[in-house]
Amino acid sequence: MIRTLPLLLVPIFAIPSAARPEPQTRVTVEAKNGMVVCVSPPAADVGVAVLKKGGTAVDAAVAVAVAMAVTWPEAGNIGGGGFMMVGPPGQEPVCIDYRETAPTAARVDLFADGTVKAFDHRAAGIPGTVRGLALAHRKFGKLPWKDLVWPAVKLAEDGFVVDGALAGRLNWVLASAATTNAEFRRVFGKREGAEWQAGDVLVQKDLGRTLRAIAEGGPDAFYTADLAKLLEKEMKAGGGLITAADLAAYKANERKPVQTTYRGYDVYGAPPPSSGGVGLAEMLNILENFDLKSRGRWSPEVTHLMIEAMKRAYCDRARYLGDPDFVAPPGHLISKEYAKKLAVGINLVRATRGETLAPDIELGEGGDSTTHFSVIDRDGMAVSNTYTLENAFGSRIVVRGAGYILNNEMTDFNPKPGKTTRGGQIGTTPNLVAPGKRMLSSQTPTLVLKGGRPVLMTGSPGGRTIINTVACVVVNVIDFEMPVRDAVDAPRLHHQWFPDVVRFEGADRHPGLVAKLKTMGHTATVTGTKQGDAHTIWVDPKTGLYHGAADTRLDGKAAGY
Ligand code: DON
Repeated sequence: MIRTLPLLLVPIFAIPSAARPEPQTRVTVEAKNGMVVCVSPPAADVGVAVLKKGGTAVDAAVAVAVAMAVTWPEAGNIGGGGFMMVGPPGQEPVCIDYRETAPTAARVDLFADGTVKAFDHRAAGIPGTVRGLALAHRKFGKLPWKDLVWPAVKLAEDGFVVDGALAGRLNWVLASAATTNAEFRRVFGKREGAEWQAGDVLVQKDLGRTLRAIAEGGPDAFYTADLAKLLEKEMKAGGGLITAADLAAYKANERKPVQTTYRGYDVYGAPPPSSGGVGLAEMLNILENFDLKSRGRWSPEVTHLMIEAMKRAYCDRARYLGDPDFVAPPGHLISKEYAKKLAVGINLVRATRGETLAPDIELGEGGDSTTHFSVIDRDGMAVSNTYTLENAFGSRIVVRGAGYILNNEMTDFNPKPGKTTRGGQIGTTPNLVAPGKRMLSSQTPTLVLKGGRPVLMTGSPGGRTIINTVACVVVNVIDFEMPVRDAVDAPRLHHQWFPDVVRFEGADRHPGLVAKLKTMGHTATVTGTKQGDAHTIWVDPKTGLYHGAADTRLDGKAAGY
């Protein structure tokens, strides 16, 4: 059942040519038995077909994830990593951590002299996606692995129809002088340098063969067999660090999610090595000390409180968080008592300066893409999955003979030990490069439950903005009881401690808000870019119906049945 909502007056920002054209409709899709919401329409269709065949939400998530490695190459991947939150009915949610890992040869000063750039073989971490999906499938899947990977094989080998959105993204990356990898250009370039148009067909034969091997041989085909040799060969040719031994040693982890309560709801987020769950919990715990609802969503008071909560959580992120196998995250960050102390420290009429939150951290002067999808099945198993190549199209390097794009996730480590800048570069110890370490992430796939049942599945791309995007959606739904469509569409804001600036998406919808915040001491800007892409599902507690809202900032599709 599709309910068309009136067009919301969300301004169309001046967006870079990389962005998708503004979609025609904003809809909420309602369904009883299952729902998939993701950025790529063909992948959403693959996922819902798996649900219709009796697959679990995790089965569908596996199929969507591998399909998006074909149909949304800017972030969908098998050469990257991410985090999958799974809420099995009647059980505590778990997090599958399939974050990339630093190769054995990586050293703390990898980025220190500036010679390793984002589009460099040395920027690639050991990919985690295939092991992560296999682990999730082993624990929570029902249908055979091969059946879940097969639709992606067909999409790659037979090709699929490119829409205007994907055409725009491909044209953007191909037009960039920074896209120098010849194999990337061979795989994604159109004949004789022509531009991609909606309606063209993209065939990826090498990727199809790789996916076929994974479908038939399982994750070992990627980590220990011929495909591992291809990656090692690519690394040797490009001066990269990953070896076949690194690949063979890669492990996905099942981790206990970060959990907090927020106004009677249970919120579960991705734990370290993501900062997403801790950051979100810390912000919500601070905000719970205030009555937001009575003040109004767009009041300067609520905005001020959200900014102040963001600053504190991002400061703690920089100070404390890294791979928990190397640096234990302190437990107090998500305690209610700590949040209360922080809340008491907020001046209600005056912005706190970034420096004063961490006088001990010495300060110098100083693209995107990830993708999130949400799934729920007829039994109420909920999945919230965010995965990434780091930049749009990752390192822009395609592994020769294997057809997949390599991540450049190593750039998520703190690049220069000791160098934290007012510009936002972090140099604190917990997230410095070390062999075998996972780089800190901001991915925030989130499950919200009430009385043990899933209510909200959300998450987003957007680098460090991710945690704030998710916080905005959660506050919109829980505090302000917005319908999920409005909660996703509503303009977002971002403050990350440093730079000490709040960025508004569309604050011009709220005349006077930015001016008022400036009088309170905030440095505020209204940006011309969109913040995030939060493909979200909400479950109506009265009817049990699933409401899927694709975030129209990048378009996408909610497919239900
Ligand atoms: O894991 C992280 O936090 C980053 N690698 C995410 C990058 C990202 O979201 C870029 N996209 N929009």
